[in-house]
Amino acid sequence: MDKVVLAFSGGLDTSVCIKLLEEKYNMEVITACVDVGQPRDEIERPAMVAKELGNYRHYTVDARREFAEDYIFPAIKANAVYEGYPLSTALARPLIAKKIVEVAEKEGASAIAHGCTGKGNDQFRFEAVIRSTTDLDVIAPIRDLNLTRTEEMEYARSCGIPLPSDKLYSIDENLWGRAIEGDILEDPMVEPPEDAFEWTKPIHETPEDPEVIEIGFHGGVPVALNGEELEPVELIGLANEVAGKHGIGRVDIMEDRIIGMKSREIYETPAAFLLLEAHRGLEQLTLTRSELRFADIISSTYAELVYSGLWHDPLREDLDMAVNHMQRRVTGTVRVKLHRGSMRVIGRESPYSLYSEEIVSFEDKTLDQREMAGMVKNYALQAAIYSRVCRKEN
Ligand code: ARG
Repeated sequence: MDKVVLAFSGGLDTSVCIKLLEEKYNMEVITACVDVGQPRDEIERPAMVAKELGNYRHYTVDARREFAEDYIFPAIKANAVYEGYPLSTALARPLIAKKIVEVAEKEGASAIAHGCTGKGNDQFRFEAVIRSTTDLDVIAPIRDLNLTRTEEMEYARSCGIPLPSDKLYSIDENLWGRAIEGDILEDPMVEPPEDAFEWTKPIHETPEDPEVIEIGFHGGVPVALNGEELEPVELIGLANEVAGKHGIGRVDIMEDRIIGMKSREIYETPAAFLLLEAHRGLEQLTLTRSELRFADIISSTYAELVYSGLWHDPLREDLDMAVNHMQRRVTGTVRVKLHRGSMRVIGRESPYSLYSEEIVSFEDKTLDQREMAGMVKNYALQAAIYSRVCRKEN
């Protein structure tokens, strides 16, 4: 029997996939779950469910550090945000796919399976990585059989798969953020109820007093909080806690999915909001005007690539090279004040600062004001000629 490695979360979709892969595809199933910072019970559950459903061989792969260093950090350096969404799910998918491929190769499997439906973005993200790194077959049982949620439930019941309790929303959580969709949130006019949020406090429950946090950056990536150097995973975790406590990081958007469908998406991404804000603050101090303008163009292209599952497009590597070169000087410290859902950079310093207090000062004479007269005189040359032409016309 051919072996297939299934990306397994222990939820309804992927549990149904196990049985379908056996019954309809006649394959031996091995399950795998990749840890990118989900809540601990979501890491333990798949192993338990795999055991209960039939003692399947199961892998748990801890990829948290790799996620932080090789996916989140490049996204911070590039200020990657898609339509207001800091790309938490989108960044994790290529890494999950990479790890599943590694398991499949180790097991000598002939195929990889995932539980994505045919409506979302993740099918693109998983398959783009799998197909650009292996020749293994890809099987997507839910999509292949065009199953609805109700049909999945019926099938699950028929083969003794435990049905989910009355879970309301569809949630995807990792180190970089929490995505909440489905149920009443599908009506874009309905305000997300408080129970949709877990990482961020509503404003009326945030501390009365502001808090100032100091973030240290080296080469464009955060390395320290309040003067203490921290490992990437720990640093992001703490940033989530601090910013979430002050009600920062809630997103409610109409998002344009890859296939063109609009969807209403809710996110909680406190660390992403805080770290990206601080990062931009430091860039303002250390990059030239032309670098900043160009970095903006890179950001939107970068975010587009990540969102649309094109992590392996060579353009992403090209952009990374440009970004890394620029980010060498994004080193220093940023102070951010958090209070009642708002966040403001209130201080920044860097050995590579391009700001000169001396030159900008009103008392300074190193810049001889008289030398500017010529530059100013012809500054709006084209506008001046344009006005002259228009005057003649009338
Ligand atoms: N729309 C987002 C994306 O495509 C997040 C989807 C998260 N999934 C979920 N079940 N909430 O990246």
